Amino acid sequence: MDEKKKTASIVEIQKVFGRSPEQHILNVVKESCQGALSLPSFTDTLQTIKSHFFERNYDAVFQNPDHLPVYSARYAPSRALCYYKMFLEHPILMKVLEGGPSTILCIGSGAGSELLGIAAAMVHANPTPKTKKVASYKKEESAREKQAGEKSNEPPPAEDTAQSIATTTEATLGLENLSLSKCTDSTSGGSGSTEGITPKVAKPKKSKSNKHQVTLVMQDYVDWSPILDPMEAVVRARMQLGPERLRCETEIGNVLDLSEGLLERVAKADLITFLFVLNELFQDKKRTMLLVARIVAAMPSGAHMLVVDSAGSFSNLKVGERTYMVYMMLDHLKDLEIVHQDDATWYRCPPGVTYPLKLENMRHFIRIYRKL
Ligand SMILES: C[S@@+](CC[C@H](N)C(=O)[O-])C[C@H]1O[C@@H](n2cnc3c(N)ncnc32)[C@H](O)[C@@H]1O
Repeated sequence: MDEKKKTASIVEIQKVFGRSPEQHILNVVKESCQGALSLPSFTDTLQTIKSHFFERNYDAVFQNPDHLPVYSARYAPSRALCYYKMFLEHPILMKVLEGGPSTILCIGSGAGSELLGIAAAMVHANPTPKTKKVASYKKEESAREKQAGEKSNEPPPAEDTAQSIATTTEATLGLENLSLSKCTDSTSGGSGSTEGITPKVAKPKKSKSNKHQVTLVMQDYVDWSPILDPMEAVVRARMQLGPERLRCETEIGNVLDLSEGLLERVAKADLITFLFVLNELFQDKKRTMLLVARIVAAMPSGAHMLVVDSAGSFSNLKVGERTYMVYMMLDHLKDLEIVHQDDATWYRCPPGVTYPLKLENMRHFIRIYRKL
């Protein structure tokens, strides 16, 4: 990409995120979850959710509609930041966002963390699949953290931020694909809640733009649309992702039921994610092993699977007398190649960012598999 175009793209990324991408993401969550955050019953509901989690009674957490907005407001922010960073760190994941059209099927993603994190990573994605240097993100990130620590109240000069975004990813925003829009996609599960958000609406460009379209399928066994619909509208407006660039679909159903519809989705997906859901599913070992086997069989060759979950005992799985980590169930599947693995890593929220609730650092494992 020539220098002029690159600079223009960097400026566009900076226009979306301002000084701090992470703070911008948190602002988007805050705006999306404003209703939940101001509920007088928020603390009590959160306490109930936590005690159900402690008992590993996941159905009790998620099958009560009153819990959903509170869950999302509490857990989506740090997860979204973690997934955002994860995508930027792994060229394989960025490639899915850059080399479109592509489809990402996110199992158990109703709470919105995947939507937030992936949409934010898309702001960096260069839809022309040539520049893929995203690995230097980590280095730049720590430089940025250091800078934030040193000058926490002083905004850096715009050109510094622009330069830092350039060295971060060398990925750019496809300006021809940039538009602000209301969600007009009929498959996205309703748009009644876009009220109050009045982004500029740009007409989606047809053939050219759709080459770079990412379809995000948010699968869950609970109807999260009262949370996801307004969140999608805020994400589109604040991250400047029109429907020609990001297409959102929802799929409701128990993934363990292994419906034909689900397997058809799997067969079309370039990336399947299990983010903080696999160890819940493994409450039912037999059905989950069958699910994994059927999903792997249905995945197209070359497609990827991203699995992330707690690195602690929550991901322990007892089989007979022995205890395994849940990822071990996938590591030895003959049709999967491990592309990236980390048994325990931390996501630490950058210093200086703010959100109405305490943000937690996350210790988790990561696996990226490729279907052979
Ligand atoms: C711990 S939350 C994780 C949410 C999200 N992936 C994240 O990273 O924030 C688990 C999610 O999986 C969903 N879920 C649990 N069991 C499921 C099942 N059997 N089929 C589909 N979704 C399920 C829940 O409704 C919830 O949204």
